[in-house]
Amino acid sequence: MRSQQNPLKLIEILADGKSHSGEELAAVFGITRAGINKYIKVLREWGITLNSIQGKGYCLTSPLDLFNKAKIDHYYGADSDVEILPIIDSTNQYLLDRIDTLQSGHSCVAEFQSKARGRRGRKWFAPFGSNLYFSMYWRLEQGIAAAMGLSLVVGIVIADTLRELSGQNIKVKWPNDLYLNDQKLAGILIELAGKTGDYAHAVIGIGVNLNMTNPDTDIVNQAWANLGQVDRNLLVAKVIKALKVNLIKFEQQGLTAFMTDWNRLDNFINRPVKLLIGENIIRGIAKGINDQGALLLEQNGTINAYIGGEISLRSDE
Ligand code: ATP
Ligand code: BTN
Repeated sequence: MRSQQNPLKLIEILADGKSHSGEELAAVFGITRAGINKYIKVLREWGITLNSIQGKGYCLTSPLDLFNKAKIDHYYGADSDVEILPIIDSTNQYLLDRIDTLQSGHSCVAEFQSKARGRRGRKWFAPFGSNLYFSMYWRLEQGIAAAMGLSLVVGIVIADTLRELSGQNIKVKWPNDLYLNDQKLAGILIELAGKTGDYAHAVIGIGVNLNMTNPDTDIVNQAWANLGQVDRNLLVAKVIKALKVNLIKFEQQGLTAFMTDWNRLDNFINRPVKLLIGENIIRGIAKGINDQGALLLEQNGTINAYIGGEISLRSDE
């Protein structure tokens, strides 16, 4: 952490998007310009894009709106119980490591994740400052049985929150993605920790692309989208509020209460899709979900239900 402190302080100075000369920065830190260069190298490793202009100094390609707890609490209207983690391996892992000490609804948000993950060990590209990387701990009163529906409900809640903020036509893709214009905008990763009594413990992770540039093509190997400029602190406050309200509704009423919302937002409803299950490919027309959270597929005139973490849905147009 110590070695990160000065690069983080440098980001706070550069966040205004203006040019800052090497001399000015060296004076702030009490080090040489070569020392500043080392911090700049760290920023580039974190995925920050900045220009170094001869005679003028360093300047971010666009200003950064850093996460700020006071601003989030202001928008939330109370203590939002969110932790700001500038640099972390994975926000999901951070909460999983502390799960015994957390209250349901506690959340965290990071500027950069060095080991962000998706489903089944896949990687999530998470450069500094440009996107949303958020996790919330939730205690599932109904135990593990509720977990399948949870990912779908979180998708609906985040899609509607992003629609409200951006005015864009955000859609859901079974079981854990958000789409914009048929491209992946966001992913949801729900991880379960051990049971105590009748309860299950879930960490709900959400990554949303806002202003991502040049993602590593070894990691992002499918079409992707950005939401565009939004007030990230307002976004976090709205996500926390919407999740808390709707997770309580989900626990009280189950997935049935969200079926209409799913049908309204489903990116693939009535479209040809293929399901990838290991080596197998199953084709059909997507027909939404059932109240267990299974995907419904029309095949030769009959509707079949598919459920399970090993299934990946893809367009078949
Ligand atoms: P599935 O339908 O099984 O969920 P998926 O390919 O979307 O399939 P996930 O585990 O949900 O797989 O997500 C991880 C994948 O998301 C990665 O393999 C990569 O292709 C893609 N990805 C990684 N980072 C990003 C990002 N920031 N934005 C968009 N897509 C990303
Ligand atoms: C997916 O599409 O497979 C899910 C991607 C989930 C990424 C988010 S970013 C915040 C949280 N921390 C992680 O390590 N992953 C999730």
